[in-house]
Amino acid sequence: MKYKKFGLTGLQVSNISLGTMTFGAEANKQESIEMFNLAKDFGINIFDCANKYANGESEKILGECIKNCRDEVIVSTKGASSIGTDINSKGLSRKHLMCELEKSLKRLNTDYIDIYFLHYFDPYTSIEDTMRFLDDAVKQGKILYTGLSNWSAWQIMKSIHISKSNLLKSIDCIQPMYSLVKRQVETEILPLAEDQNLAVISYSPVGSGLLTGKYETIDTTANARLNEKKYYNQRYNHKIYHETVKKFCEYANKNGYEPASLAISWVLSHDTITSSIIGARNKEQLKSNLKCLEIEMSDTLRDEISNLSFTPFPANDRFEEIVDSSNRLRD
Ligand SMILES: NC(=O)c1ccc[n+]([C@@H]2O[C@H](COP(=O)([O-])OP(=O)(O)OC[C@H]3O[C@@H](n4cnc5c(N)ncnc54)[C@H](OP(=O)(O)O)[C@@H]3O)[C@@H](O)[C@H]2O)c1
Repeated sequence: MKYKKFGLTGLQVSNISLGTMTFGAEANKQESIEMFNLAKDFGINIFDCANKYANGESEKILGECIKNCRDEVIVSTKGASSIGTDINSKGLSRKHLMCELEKSLKRLNTDYIDIYFLHYFDPYTSIEDTMRFLDDAVKQGKILYTGLSNWSAWQIMKSIHISKSNLLKSIDCIQPMYSLVKRQVETEILPLAEDQNLAVISYSPVGSGLLTGKYETIDTTANARLNEKKYYNQRYNHKIYHETVKKFCEYANKNGYEPASLAISWVLSHDTITSSIIGARNKEQLKSNLKCLEIEMSDTLRDEISNLSFTPFPANDRFEEIVDSSNRLRD
C-alpha cells in the first residue's frame, strides 16, 4: 500500500480508502465487518462514511469495526443530508449540523471524528455561519479535520477566503467524484486542490459499477446499483459514458486487466489524488478490486486509458497558447 500526505496536516493516509456506504445496506453486518478487516489487512487506514448511509446503520457498524483500533484509523463522516422529516433537518445550518454531528459521534461510538465533510453545498445558508460551526466543533475536539464534498471550485475558494479572513479553521481536504467517465474535476477542482495544498479523497472510481462493464451483459433485474437506485442510474445515463465503458472494457480485456481494478488504478495514478474511496457490496468484489495494487500504471498506460474517454475542456476558452493539455503554463 502506498501512503500519501494528507494536505498539510502531517497525517499519512493510504492511497486507497474504504467506503462504507454499503455497510448495513447491500452488505449485512457480518459481511461489512469482514470487508473492514480485509481492507485493514491490506494497509487501508482511512474509512469513509456519512450520517445518511443506511439511515445511520453504516456509522453504527463502522463504530463496531473501529472499537479496538481507534487510534490507527482515520474515520471520515459527513453531515448535511436529512435523515429525519423535520423541516430543519437538512442543509448546512448550525442547528442541523450540530444535531447530526452529535448523532454521528454516538453511532460511531467515538469521542472525535477525524475528518468531517459537508456533504453538499447549501445555497440557503451563509458560508460564514457554517465555517463557524466547523471551527467551534474543532475547538471542542469533536472534529480534527474538515472537508467539503461535491462543492464547485468557486464555492470551495469562497469558503477558504471566508475562513481565512475571519481567522476560522479552513478546510483540509475535498471529496469530489472522479473516474474515467466523470472527469470534470480535472478542469478546476484538482488544480485548485494542488494550489491550496488540499488533500483530495475522491469517490466512485468504478463509476458506481459502470466501469466493470457488467451492465453490457446483466439484465435490469440483477442486483446491482444502477438497476436498484434510480438517481444513480440517472447519474450515468448518458450515451458518452456507455461508449467510454465499451472502449475501456475492450482495452482492459485485450491487455489482460480486470476493468474494475484498472479503473481504480487509473484514478490513483493522478498526482493530485491523495486517496480514492473504493466501494463494494461484498468481500469478493473488494478482493478483486484490491488487485489494482498490483498494476504498474506507467505514463503510457495512463495516457492510453485517458484517451478512451472524453477529456473535459479547459476552464478558459482562450488556452491554446497559454496552457498545455495538463492545464499548466507553457514555457
Ligand atoms: N461524497 C459523496 O457524495 C459520495 C457519493 C458516493 C460515494 N461516496 C463514498 O465513496 C465510496 C465509494 O463509492 P462507490 O461505491 O460509488 O464506488 P465505486 O467503486 O465506483 O462503486 C462501487 C460499486 O460498484 C459495484 N462494483 C464495484 N466493484 C465491482 C466488481 N468487481 N464487480 C462487480 N461490481 C462491482 C458494486 O455495486 P453493485 O454490486 O451494486 O453493482 C459496488 O458497491 C462510498 O462507499 C462512499 O463512502 C461518497
